Amino acid sequence: MDERSDALVVFQPSGRRGRFPLGTPLLDAARSLGVYVESVCGGRGLCGRCQVSVEEGAFSKHQIVSSVDNLTPFSETEARYRRLRSLPADRRLSCSAKVMGDLVVDVPQDVASHRALVRKRAEGRPIAVDPSTHLVTVTVEEPSMETPRGDADRLIDALVGAEQMVGLSIDMPLLAQVQKTLRAGHWRVTAAIHSAGDSHTVIGLWPGEKARLFGLAVDIGSTTIAAHLCDLGSGRTVASAGTSNPQVRFGEDLMSRVSYILMNPDAVEKLTEAVRGAVGVLIEKVAAEAGIAADEIVEAVFVGNPIMHHLFLGIDPTELGGAPFAMAVSGSVSASARDLGLAINPCARVYVPPLVAGHVGADAAAATLAEGPGRVPPGDGAAAEAVTLLVDIGTNAEIVLGRGERVIACSSPTGPAFEGAEISSGQRAAPGAIERVRIDPATLEPKFKVIGCDLWSDEEGFEEAVAGVGITGVCGSGIVEAIGEMFLAGILTEDGVIDGRLVAQSDRIVPSERTFAYVLHAGLVDLRVTQGDVRAIQLAKAALYAGIKLLMTRLEVEAVDRIRLAGAFGSYIDPKYAMVIGLIPDCPLEQVSAVGNAAGTGARMVLLNKTHRAEIEDLVGRIEKVETALEPAFQGHFVSAMALPNKVDRFPNLSASVPLPLPRTTARGETTGDEGADARASGRPRSRRGARKAAPSDEAAE
Ligand code: FES
Repeated sequence: MDERSDALVVFQPSGRRGRFPLGTPLLDAARSLGVYVESVCGGRGLCGRCQVSVEEGAFSKHQIVSSVDNLTPFSETEARYRRLRSLPADRRLSCSAKVMGDLVVDVPQDVASHRALVRKRAEGRPIAVDPSTHLVTVTVEEPSMETPRGDADRLIDALVGAEQMVGLSIDMPLLAQVQKTLRAGHWRVTAAIHSAGDSHTVIGLWPGEKARLFGLAVDIGSTTIAAHLCDLGSGRTVASAGTSNPQVRFGEDLMSRVSYILMNPDAVEKLTEAVRGAVGVLIEKVAAEAGIAADEIVEAVFVGNPIMHHLFLGIDPTELGGAPFAMAVSGSVSASARDLGLAINPCARVYVPPLVAGHVGADAAAATLAEGPGRVPPGDGAAAEAVTLLVDIGTNAEIVLGRGERVIACSSPTGPAFEGAEISSGQRAAPGAIERVRIDPATLEPKFKVIGCDLWSDEEGFEEAVAGVGITGVCGSGIVEAIGEMFLAGILTEDGVIDGRLVAQSDRIVPSERTFAYVLHAGLVDLRVTQGDVRAIQLAKAALYAGIKLLMTRLEVEAVDRIRLAGAFGSYIDPKYAMVIGLIPDCPLEQVSAVGNAAGTGARMVLLNKTHRAEIEDLVGRIEKVETALEPAFQGHFVSAMALPNKVDRFPNLSASVPLPLPRTTARGETTGDEGADARASGRPRSRRGARKAAPSDEAAE
């Protein structure tokens, strides 16, 4: 073998290194070493998130000489990106540049991970305020020779007198500050008292009068982390901030992070450090935005899925990686900020709600508290008895179904397709992503909307308006709409096959390997919906739907009355298209609503009102868990749910407002199912396109 057939590549700042055959794209080299380089456009040279720079010089530590000349020359793709978006002189696109010799490569943080939209905002739901910590201002008796009592003891006397409470103590680290604070306030001070049952503790002390205290509600997702700073007096959210979870460096999804831990001895510490570091940055941001000192934050609530929960608490989550998915701790956890190294008041109390099961977390518990079955507007008795489905769609969908007091939950492995991964033109929801799609059923021509541009693609001025963000890919809500519209327009059969016979009719349908693809946008690089993309979405939606069906069987119901879509994806997906592709069961469309970041809302409820803590603990105790992997019926439901919208289930409510195409022959001429059943059950009308495609020319086309 030629001695120059491979080269050593070292990535900074992680220091990960490996040898790669000459010609390997740098992005692939980074991936194979587990170095996180973002690539939202899937390596098409459109998003620019994969930028890297080469460090030049002799690196004795690595025994190599690194030079930009050890990369393939600047490509046409990179030149185009530089022309359109600007690329600093020292940067290369790692999806385009290939290894031609030894390299030390720097992965700059200014372009990575933080550009994705963090769509986890605090919802405006009013919450009755009754937090665990409150403020009391007292005047403390000055010391005297006659009564030799400690300053802290006289502080407690004053507080007990003012509050009429027993069992009051001062948190140990505060003792060292009592004397200074009393004198700074000329014996008038304000204390923050935290109450848990019959135990009361002073956890904060300030000289003079003080009127406001703050708490933090944090939702730690595997992809994004969102923090809300709340005024513990008014309950108002005074600042919010979000960021990508830096743990993505160690693995995009939860299971790859668990694998990383299994293979690297000090990985738990690294992952814990990463998530706590990101939380620290968010704390700084929200405190600065609200103009408060970090020590005014005296309470914090954290929710997350079981793996995020364990890692945040510094617990090894590997037991959660396989059956029986044993949790290190499932009950609620109470700690102080100093236990977790959080840069807020060191005596601040941290509360982590209980986990539901090995892969249904405190985030699902919080979402259920906020929006789950039984949580209805006061006085709405009918709604309390409604069969309510709450779905939080991420890489793992959390599904909660219930009626009245009975609540059942499971999680289903939907995979990352709804987040744009595994989709040929997929990307995360970020500026430049197609998020809305309409297809004219007569001409098969599409129009779309892009995040960061208010105009539809067929509106005047679109080209200029979109120039700032570009058209870089299709995000989760965009791919769901594209597939829904392709089905409604007759481009997709019930089985999800792209109908190749339409090639002759529209240049939007093109051969692609041994199947066909739909060209959604013909630009510098075509954005297509391929047969593989349709399959990826079918698999993901079938997994979700099968989980929902298991819960419906367990609850002994045939239909659901209300559907609540939680999470970032749930907030942006159009319920109509979610139903058209059979992601969710039939239900009156007006009863399907997005509830935003329900986990974050639940976290704020628990932060702002101590009775919600008892409530969430009771709720988690009552939730019946269904383990999808152990249910024999899952497979059958899954197979039926691969069809659009479903092979066996009917969608009468949807059909009443959306003309679904009739089942018809596939591109290969096979029948796609019970042609009359849908019409029998739903009485739905035939669509224009459906009518056209059912013409005798079907045979001729074969
Ligand atoms: Fe390289 Fe998008 S991944 S430009």
